[in-house]
Amino acid sequence: MKREDIDRIAAFVGDLKCKTQKEVEEARVRLLGKKGEITALFDDFRTVDRAQKAEFGKALNELKQKALARIEELKGTVSDSGESGAPKADLTMPGDPFELGSRHPVSIVRQEIVDIFRKFGYDVAEGPEIEDDYHVFEALNFPPNHPARDMQDTFFVSAGHPNPILLRTHTSSVQVRTMEKMDVPIRVICPGRVFRNEAISARAHCIFHQVEGLYIDEGVTFADLKQAILLFAREMFGPDTQIRMRPSYFPFTEPSAEVDVSCNICHGKGCNICKGTGWLEILGCGMVDPNVLEASGIDSKRYSGFAFGMGLERIAMLKWRVNDLRHYFENDMRFLHEFATAPEV
Ligand code: DAH
Repeated sequence: MKREDIDRIAAFVGDLKCKTQKEVEEARVRLLGKKGEITALFDDFRTVDRAQKAEFGKALNELKQKALARIEELKGTVSDSGESGAPKADLTMPGDPFELGSRHPVSIVRQEIVDIFRKFGYDVAEGPEIEDDYHVFEALNFPPNHPARDMQDTFFVSAGHPNPILLRTHTSSVQVRTMEKMDVPIRVICPGRVFRNEAISARAHCIFHQVEGLYIDEGVTFADLKQAILLFAREMFGPDTQIRMRPSYFPFTEPSAEVDVSCNICHGKGCNICKGTGWLEILGCGMVDPNVLEASGIDSKRYSGFAFGMGLERIAMLKWRVNDLRHYFENDMRFLHEFATAPEV
């Protein structure tokens, strides 16, 4: 072994550059592998003169440490295939998008309705989804044999006793709970989920959402009801909106009406959305039946009130023309994302 051999390899290590991990491994094998150049020098060490052993031994160990350090350094900076020293990530790549949720169309509509009625001075009231027959039917003046109590329409949780537990079929039950709890005057809006035993189709679902409204005070008249609905319709569907009321029947209101708004697509001329009539049905309403007031302990001689109820999916359908109810429940992100910036039609 000559001193030059050590210096030559030391110079090689000093200049060592690699472009890939493969080249780093090749350099390691060349220097420190079983048949590597530094390994060979260690084998030759036996032949070194005694006098030079200390000097050569020190130089050899330093060379080995230098080679090991350089190989480790290159391993850490060379990419698998790229240039030595290049960063491992391509910083010019576009970032991974951060998935943001968007509000559900039913939530958007509920918030709009709540905001409109808040401006008119209504409070928000909520009640339980799992209710009893009394609050869903009896206190609302449903006769015992009314078809809505039938197993066909109502999901019963427990039946077979005088006040069965069931999933509420409408948010009118919150009217009753509010009248029980609050003193008159009452002005509340009650959004919530309701359940009916219906086969799921484009036009019907076993779960949907309603908003109930209730206003009770001295001297409340049908004219007040009409005005409240007209103001709401204009806030919701635009300032030119007209309403019409058709006589109807609900056990808990007398008189009762169904309300249509003028079709905001054809402006009353008739189109396929309004089926040529120029009108779209949006809600049911009426003057609270005195029996309903009395059942909840309100003096029907002194007080009167109106109530109304509407389906949120129905309003969303009118707003965005999504006419298959099932879309509102399937949680398909492609559908939901449309409402992040959806313009109203
Ligand atoms: N509860 C009715 C339904 O589910 C909607 C309704 C109609 C509510 C008339 C009312 C009302 O308060 O006055 O179809």
